[in-house]
Amino acid sequence: MTLVVEGLHARYGEFPALSGVDLTVGDGEVLAVIGANGAGKSTLLGAVGGTVVATGGVELDGVPLHGLRPHERARRWIATVPEGRRLFPSLSVRENLLMGAIRGRTGPWTVDAVHETFPFVAKLRDRPAGALSGGEQQAVAIGRALLANPRVLLLDEVSLGLAPAIVERLYRTLADLRSGAMAMVVVEQDVGQVLALADRVLCLRAGRPVLAAPAADVTAADVTAAYFGTPADGAAS
Ligand SMILES: Nc1ncnc2c1ncn2[C@@H]1O[C@H](COP(=O)(O)OP(=O)(O)OP(=O)(O)O)[C@@H](O)[C@H]1O
Ligand SMILES: [Mg+2]
Repeated sequence: MTLVVEGLHARYGEFPALSGVDLTVGDGEVLAVIGANGAGKSTLLGAVGGTVVATGGVELDGVPLHGLRPHERARRWIATVPEGRRLFPSLSVRENLLMGAIRGRTGPWTVDAVHETFPFVAKLRDRPAGALSGGEQQAVAIGRALLANPRVLLLDEVSLGLAPAIVERLYRTLADLRSGAMAMVVVEQDVGQVLALADRVLCLRAGRPVLAAPAADVTAADVTAAYFGTPADGAAS
Protein backbone atom coordinates (compact mmCIF):
# COMPACT_ATOMS: atom_id res chain seq x y z
CA MET A 1 0.00 0.00 0.00
CA THR A 2 1.38 3.40 -0.93
CA LEU A 3 0.37 6.76 0.46
CA VAL A 4 0.77 9.56 -2.07
CA VAL A 5 0.25 13.20 -1.14
CA GLU A 6 0.38 15.80 -3.89
CA GLY A 7 0.14 19.57 -3.77
CA LEU A 8 -1.32 19.69 -0.28
CA HIS A 9 -2.45 23.11 0.97
CA ALA A 10 -4.08 23.96 4.31
CA ARG A 11 -5.06 27.23 5.95
CA TYR A 12 -6.16 28.33 9.38
CA GLY A 13 -8.29 31.30 8.36
CA GLU A 14 -5.97 33.51 6.33
CA PHE A 15 -2.85 31.79 7.62
CA PRO A 16 -1.27 29.37 5.14
CA ALA A 17 -0.16 26.42 7.28
CA LEU A 18 0.77 24.09 4.40
CA SER A 19 1.77 25.17 0.90
CA GLY A 20 2.39 22.62 -1.82
CA VAL A 21 3.50 19.59 0.15
CA ASP A 22 4.19 16.32 -1.70
CA LEU A 23 5.21 12.99 -0.25
CA THR A 24 5.18 9.30 -1.05
CA VAL A 25 5.61 6.47 1.42
CA GLY A 26 5.10 2.79 0.77
CA ASP A 27 4.86 -0.46 2.71
CA GLY A 28 7.89 -1.12 4.86
CA GLU A 29 9.09 2.47 4.51
CA VAL A 30 9.53 5.17 7.12
CA LEU A 31 9.28 8.85 6.21
CA ALA A 32 10.63 11.33 8.75
CA VAL A 33 8.96 14.74 8.84
CA ILE A 34 11.09 17.34 10.58
CA GLY A 35 11.02 21.10 11.02
CA ALA A 36 10.97 23.80 13.68
CA ASN A 37 8.04 24.52 15.99
CA GLY A 38 5.11 25.80 13.96
CA ALA A 39 6.51 24.51 10.64
CA GLY A 40 3.29 22.61 9.88
CA LYS A 41 4.23 19.03 10.83
CA SER A 42 1.12 18.28 12.91
CA THR A 43 -1.03 20.03 10.33
CA LEU A 44 0.40 17.71 7.68
CA LEU A 45 -0.44 14.60 9.73
CA GLY A 46 -3.91 16.05 10.41
CA ALA A 47 -4.45 16.68 6.70
CA VAL A 48 -3.48 13.08 5.90
CA GLY A 49 -5.44 11.63 8.82
CA GLY A 50 -8.51 13.72 8.06
CA THR A 51 -8.71 15.98 11.12
CA VAL A 52 -7.48 19.07 9.24
CA VAL A 53 -9.26 20.34 6.13
CA ALA A 54 -6.86 20.56 3.20
CA THR A 55 -6.86 20.78 -0.58
CA GLY A 56 -4.71 18.67 -2.84
CA GLY A 57 -4.37 14.97 -3.37
CA VAL A 58 -4.20 12.32 -0.66
CA GLU A 59 -4.38 8.82 -2.10
CA LEU A 60 -3.91 5.31 -0.82
CA ASP A 61 -3.01 2.93 -3.63
CA GLY A 62 -4.55 5.39 -6.05
CA VAL A 63 -7.82 5.72 -4.11
CA PRO A 64 -8.48 9.37 -3.20
CA LEU A 65 -9.31 10.02 0.45
CA HIS A 66 -10.68 13.49 -0.22
CA GLY A 67 -13.92 14.05 1.64
CA LEU A 68 -13.53 11.04 3.92
CA ARG A 69 -13.87 11.76 7.64
CA PRO A 70 -11.24 10.47 10.11
CA HIS A 71 -13.21 7.35 11.08
CA GLU A 72 -13.69 6.54 7.40
CA ARG A 73 -9.98 7.03 6.80
CA ALA A 74 -9.33 4.69 9.71
CA ARG A 75 -11.33 2.10 7.83
CA ARG A 76 -8.91 2.65 5.00
CA TRP A 77 -6.24 1.84 7.54
CA ILE A 78 -4.68 5.16 8.47
CA ALA A 79 -4.07 5.42 12.25
CA THR A 80 -2.52 8.31 14.16
CA VAL A 81 -0.52 8.52 17.36
CA PRO A 82 -1.33 12.15 18.14
CA GLU A 83 0.91 14.80 19.65
CA GLY A 84 0.44 14.67 23.43
CA ARG A 85 -0.89 11.06 23.27
CA ARG A 86 -4.51 12.02 24.02
CA LEU A 87 -5.39 9.01 26.12
CA PHE A 88 -8.54 8.93 28.23
CA PRO A 89 -6.93 9.41 31.66
CA SER A 90 -9.73 7.90 33.77
CA LEU A 91 -10.17 4.82 31.56
CA SER A 92 -7.96 1.79 32.09
CA VAL A 93 -5.01 1.02 29.86
CA ARG A 94 -6.94 -1.91 28.40
CA GLU A 95 -9.97 0.29 27.65
CA ASN A 96 -7.72 2.86 25.98
CA LEU A 97 -6.16 0.16 23.81
CA LEU A 98 -9.55 -1.16 22.79
CA MET A 99 -10.57 2.32 21.60
CA GLY A 100 -8.18 1.81 18.70
CA ALA A 101 -9.83 -1.44 17.69
CA ILE A 102 -13.32 0.11 17.52
CA ARG A 103 -12.52 2.23 14.48
CA GLY A 104 -10.11 -0.12 12.83
CA ARG A 105 -9.92 -3.46 11.11
CA THR A 106 -9.24 -6.92 12.39
CA GLY A 107 -5.72 -8.18 11.72
CA PRO A 108 -2.53 -9.27 13.43
CA TRP A 109 -2.65 -6.50 16.04
CA THR A 110 -4.64 -7.63 19.06
CA VAL A 111 -4.36 -6.61 22.70
CA ASP A 112 -2.16 -9.69 23.24
CA ALA A 113 0.11 -8.68 20.37
CA VAL A 114 0.49 -5.18 21.84
CA HIS A 115 1.32 -6.76 25.22
CA GLU A 116 4.01 -8.83 23.50
CA THR A 117 5.52 -5.70 21.94
CA PHE A 118 5.29 -3.70 25.18
CA PRO A 119 5.39 -6.26 28.03
CA PHE A 120 5.19 -3.51 30.67
CA VAL A 121 1.82 -2.46 29.25
CA ALA A 122 0.41 -5.90 30.06
CA LYS A 123 1.28 -5.40 33.71
CA LEU A 124 -0.46 -2.01 33.73
CA ARG A 125 -3.61 -3.12 31.93
CA ASP A 126 -6.06 -2.34 34.76
CA ARG A 127 -4.51 0.99 35.80
CA PRO A 128 -6.09 4.29 34.78
CA ALA A 129 -4.06 5.63 31.86
CA GLY A 130 -3.67 8.97 33.64
CA ALA A 131 -1.66 7.25 36.38
CA LEU A 132 1.06 6.07 33.95
CA SER A 133 4.45 7.68 33.29
CA GLY A 134 4.97 9.60 30.06
CA GLY A 135 6.83 6.72 28.41
CA GLU A 136 4.21 4.20 29.47
CA GLN A 137 1.45 6.45 28.14
CA GLN A 138 3.29 6.79 24.84
CA ALA A 139 3.47 3.01 24.52
CA VAL A 140 -0.28 2.79 25.14
CA ALA A 141 -0.94 5.47 22.51
CA ILE A 142 1.14 3.52 19.98
CA GLY A 143 -0.59 0.28 20.98
CA ARG A 144 -3.99 1.91 20.54
CA ALA A 145 -3.10 3.00 17.01
CA LEU A 146 -1.75 -0.47 16.17
CA LEU A 147 -5.02 -2.06 17.27
CA ALA A 148 -6.65 -0.40 14.27
CA ASN A 149 -4.39 -2.68 12.19
CA PRO A 150 -3.30 0.28 10.09
CA ARG A 151 -1.49 0.10 6.79
CA VAL A 152 -0.29 3.66 7.36
CA LEU A 153 0.81 4.73 10.85
CA LEU A 154 1.25 8.45 11.54
CA LEU A 155 3.27 9.31 14.66
CA ASP A 156 3.53 12.85 16.03
CA GLU A 157 6.49 13.61 18.31
CA VAL A 158 6.52 10.35 20.23
CA SER A 159 9.74 11.38 22.03
CA LEU A 160 8.39 14.63 23.46
CA GLY A 161 9.07 14.98 27.19
CA LEU A 162 10.57 11.51 27.55
CA ALA A 163 13.95 10.59 29.06
CA PRO A 164 16.64 9.72 26.49
CA ALA A 165 16.74 6.03 27.53
CA ILE A 166 12.97 5.74 27.05
CA VAL A 167 13.19 7.44 23.66
CA GLU A 168 15.85 4.97 22.55
CA ARG A 169 13.72 2.03 23.63
CA LEU A 170 10.70 3.49 21.86
CA TYR A 171 12.67 3.95 18.65
CA ARG A 172 13.97 0.38 18.84
CA THR A 173 10.34 -0.71 19.00
CA LEU A 174 9.45 1.48 16.01
CA ALA A 175 12.31 -0.15 14.08
CA ASP A 176 10.85 -3.55 14.97
CA LEU A 177 7.42 -2.38 13.79
CA ARG A 178 8.80 -1.68 10.33
CA SER A 179 7.30 -4.42 8.23
CA GLY A 180 6.30 -5.02 4.66
CA ALA A 181 2.69 -4.50 5.67
CA MET A 182 2.83 -0.94 7.02
CA ALA A 183 4.06 2.51 5.98
CA MET A 184 5.09 4.96 8.70
CA VAL A 185 5.26 8.75 8.79
CA VAL A 186 7.17 9.92 11.85
CA VAL A 187 7.09 13.58 12.91
CA GLU A 188 9.98 14.26 15.23
CA GLN A 189 12.06 17.06 16.76
CA ASP A 190 14.78 14.61 17.79
CA VAL A 191 16.37 14.66 14.35
CA GLY A 192 19.25 12.27 15.09
CA GLN A 193 16.88 9.63 16.38
CA VAL A 194 14.44 9.79 13.49
CA LEU A 195 17.07 9.99 10.74
CA ALA A 196 18.54 6.73 12.01
CA LEU A 197 15.12 5.09 11.58
CA ALA A 198 13.86 6.70 8.39
CA ASP A 199 14.35 5.89 4.73
CA ARG A 200 13.49 9.36 3.58
CA VAL A 201 13.21 12.76 5.19
CA LEU A 202 10.96 15.72 4.51
CA CYS A 203 11.69 19.03 6.21
CA LEU A 204 9.01 21.71 6.40
CA ARG A 205 9.64 25.38 7.00
CA ALA A 206 6.70 27.75 7.33
CA GLY A 207 4.46 25.12 5.74
CA ARG A 208 6.68 24.58 2.71
CA PRO A 209 8.80 21.57 1.84
CA VAL A 210 12.42 22.74 1.94
CA LEU A 211 14.21 19.39 1.92
CA ALA A 212 13.13 15.99 0.61
CA ALA A 213 15.86 13.37 0.34
CA PRO A 214 16.97 9.86 1.32
CA ALA A 215 17.78 9.98 5.06
CA ALA A 216 21.22 8.46 4.47
CA ASP A 217 22.19 11.40 2.23
CA VAL A 218 21.20 14.13 4.66
CA THR A 219 23.96 15.83 6.67
CA ALA A 220 23.69 17.92 9.83
CA ALA A 221 24.48 20.99 7.71
CA ASP A 222 21.58 20.13 5.36
CA VAL A 223 19.23 19.89 8.34
CA THR A 224 20.39 23.22 9.79
CA ALA A 225 20.02 24.96 6.43
CA ALA A 226 16.56 23.45 5.94
CA TYR A 227 15.36 24.39 9.42
CA PHE A 228 16.52 27.95 9.41
CA GLY A 229 17.01 28.85 5.77
CA THR A 230 20.15 30.27 4.24
CA PRO A 231 20.88 33.80 3.07
CA ALA A 232 20.83 32.43 -0.49
CA ASP A 233 17.16 31.51 -0.37
CA GLY A 234 16.13 34.69 1.39
CA ALA A 235 14.58 32.86 4.30
CA ALA A 236 17.21 33.56 6.93
CA SER A 237 16.04 35.43 9.97
N1 LIG B 1 -6.13 25.42 15.08
C1 LIG B 1 -5.29 26.34 14.66
N2 LIG B 1 -5.72 27.60 14.41
C2 LIG B 1 -4.87 28.55 13.95
N3 LIG B 1 -3.57 28.34 13.70
C3 LIG B 1 -3.09 27.13 13.93
C4 LIG B 1 -3.91 26.06 14.41
N4 LIG B 1 -3.16 24.96 14.56
C5 LIG B 1 -1.92 25.32 14.18
N5 LIG B 1 -1.87 26.61 13.81
C6 LIG B 1 -0.70 27.32 13.30
O1 LIG B 1 -0.25 26.66 12.13
C7 LIG B 1 1.17 26.57 12.11
C8 LIG B 1 1.58 25.12 12.00
O2 LIG B 1 1.20 24.45 13.21
P1 LIG B 1 1.55 22.94 13.48
O3 LIG B 1 0.92 22.58 14.76
O4 LIG B 1 1.21 22.14 12.28
O5 LIG B 1 3.14 23.01 13.62
P2 LIG B 1 4.17 21.89 14.08
O6 LIG B 1 5.22 21.83 13.04
O7 LIG B 1 3.45 20.63 14.41
O8 LIG B 1 4.77 22.55 15.40
P3 LIG B 1 5.28 21.86 16.78
O9 LIG B 1 6.66 21.34 16.48
O10 LIG B 1 5.34 23.01 17.72
O11 LIG B 1 4.30 20.80 17.16
C9 LIG B 1 1.66 27.27 13.37
O12 LIG B 1 2.02 28.59 13.04
C10 LIG B 1 0.45 27.27 14.28
O13 LIG B 1 0.46 28.39 15.14
MG1 LIG C 1 3.20 19.57 16.14
